[in-house]
Amino acid sequence: MSTQHPLFLRFLEALREGISDKSSDFHNFAFSNLTDGRVASRHLVIRDFIEKNCSIIFFSDLRSPKIHSILEEKSTTCVFYSKEAELQIRALTFSQIIKDDSLVDGYWESVPIFSRKAYLTLEPPSSISDERTDGLPEEYERHANSLSYTSKARKNFCVVENVIRELDLLSLSSKGHSRAKFTVQQGSVQMDWLVP
Ligand SMILES: Cc1cc2nc3c(=O)[nH]c(=O)nc-3n(C[C@H](O)[C@H](O)[C@H](O)COP(=O)(O)O)c2cc1C
Repeated sequence: MSTQHPLFLRFLEALREGISDKSSDFHNFAFSNLTDGRVASRHLVIRDFIEKNCSIIFFSDLRSPKIHSILEEKSTTCVFYSKEAELQIRALTFSQIIKDDSLVDGYWESVPIFSRKAYLTLEPPSSISDERTDGLPEEYERHANSLSYTSKARKNFCVVENVIRELDLLSLSSKGHSRAKFTVQQGSVQMDWLVP
């Protein structure tokens, strides 16, 4: 029932806008997880929202520290805010790496050729370097579109699904803020108003 609530529909609309419109405030979000007992946060790009699973999708490098951490501790958060929409979205999520190769291939096809180099660094993302570096192999520019580079990049590419367990939506307004919590459980969604 609560999935038809105007605030929940606003949330769906916001994520759809974030996926399709690069200039939307909802295109990026802060993703937080636990690494060795410490909270780690960073900005990411939303790539998809799977409505039937109520899950947020982002892309990353399989070798990056956050991916290792998610495998250890799947409890995470995704936080969005749009100044224009005056809406904050805080999603409590369970994160998992998508294993279905055909699904991952489909997402890979959506990555523009020039953006695929993000998955081609010689060392894993967040590795320490002796000097300033973009991390790419020296001969990269000459062979950027070669098959061997494309397949190397594809091997490092991963898709992370963040299944929403709880949503906290805060709508700001000069007429009075409003805030609601949506709890997702076995396909059903329960809503409670919260004091903003
Ligand atoms: C606007 C913006 C968008 C970003 N999008 C992504 C993304 O979609 N996927 C990703 O892995 N890193 C993305 N990054 C880089 C991450 O913030 C982070 O620096 C990198 O993933 C390494 O994180 P880690 O060491 O915690 O794994 C983005 C950074 C910014 C500033």
